Amino acid sequence: MKREEYISDETVIKCANEAVRIELEKNRALGIPVVIYDRESQIIYRENGVGSRTEVGRRRRKERYSERISKQKSEITMKTLILNGSPRINGDTSSLINKITEKIAGEYRIVDAYRCKISPCLDCRYCWKNSGCAINDEMQEIYKYIQECDNILIASPLYFSELTGKLLDVGSRLQTYFCARYFRKEEPITKSKKGAVILVGGGDGHIDTAYSTACTLLHHMNCYNIHDAVYSHNTNERPAIDDENAILGIYSILSFFCRERIDVNFS
Ligand SMILES: Cc1cc2nc3c(=O)[nH]c(=O)nc-3n(C[C@H](O)[C@H](O)[C@H](O)COP(=O)(O)O)c2cc1C
Repeated sequence: MKREEYISDETVIKCANEAVRIELEKNRALGIPVVIYDRESQIIYRENGVGSRTEVGRRRRKERYSERISKQKSEITMKTLILNGSPRINGDTSSLINKITEKIAGEYRIVDAYRCKISPCLDCRYCWKNSGCAINDEMQEIYKYIQECDNILIASPLYFSELTGKLLDVGSRLQTYFCARYFRKEEPITKSKKGAVILVGGGDGHIDTAYSTACTLLHHMNCYNIHDAVYSHNTNERPAIDDENAILGIYSILSFFCRERIDVNFS
C-alpha cells in the first residue's frame, strides 16, 4: 500500500467527530433528547433545546478506565509476608511453609532469617527522631513490603520455648515502629493486616512464650487480627508434615487470610 493511501489518525478522529455532530443535529431536529458528556467537568448533560443544559449525572471516578482496572487488580492481589525462623532448608518449619505457599492466593515473600542479609537492631536510636531505620540492608525492602502486605505469617521452630534467635534479630528491626508510636507519636503502618503463627517443637509442647513473642512482633506490624497458634509439637517422633492437626491448622490459616477479601467493590 502506498503512503498516501493510509488514512491518518487525525482524519479518523475528524470523521468520527463529524459523524457524532450529524447524529446530534438529527436528534435535535427530531426532538430526541440529546445527552452530552463533558470530558473537562466529567458531567453528563441533557440539552433542553433552548440552548440550556440540565445535569443528569456525573462520572464517579476521576481515573481513566485503564488506571482504575490496574488499581483494582493491585487491590485484589493479596500479599503475604512470611518470616521463616528455621535454619533447616528442608526441616519441619519449611515443610509447613511450603504447604502454605502451594495454596496461597496472590503473591508472597519469604524472609529466611538464617540466610537473609538483615542485621539486628543496634539501638542507635535514629528512629527515636526519624522515620525508617538507619541500617541500610535488606530490611529496607521488607519495610516496604510490610506497608503493602495484607497478611503476615511467622513460622519458627521452638528453641528453648522461644522463637529462634535469628528470627528475633530480624524482629528487633521492628523497633522503628515502636519508636514511631512511642516517641514520635506517629502511626508508621496505616494498613492493618492479618497475622498467623506456626510453631514446631521436638517434644516439650510449650508454645505459649513463643506464641506471645510472635504476637508482639505482629502487633508491631499492625496485625491485631491473629489466628490461633498452629503447631506441631512432637517432631522428634513425627515430622510436622505428617501431623494431621498441623495440616488442618494450615488450611485454617489459608482460609483466614482470604476471608473478606472477596468483598472487593467493583461498582
Ligand atoms: C537449640 C535448640 C533448642 C530447641 N529447643 C526446643 C524447645 O524448647 N522445645 C521443643 O519442643 N523443641 C526444641 N528444639 C527442637 C526443635 O524445635 C525441633 O527439632 C524442630 O522440629 C526443628 O524445626 P526445623 O526443622 O524447622 O528447624 C530445639 C532444637 C534446637 C536445635
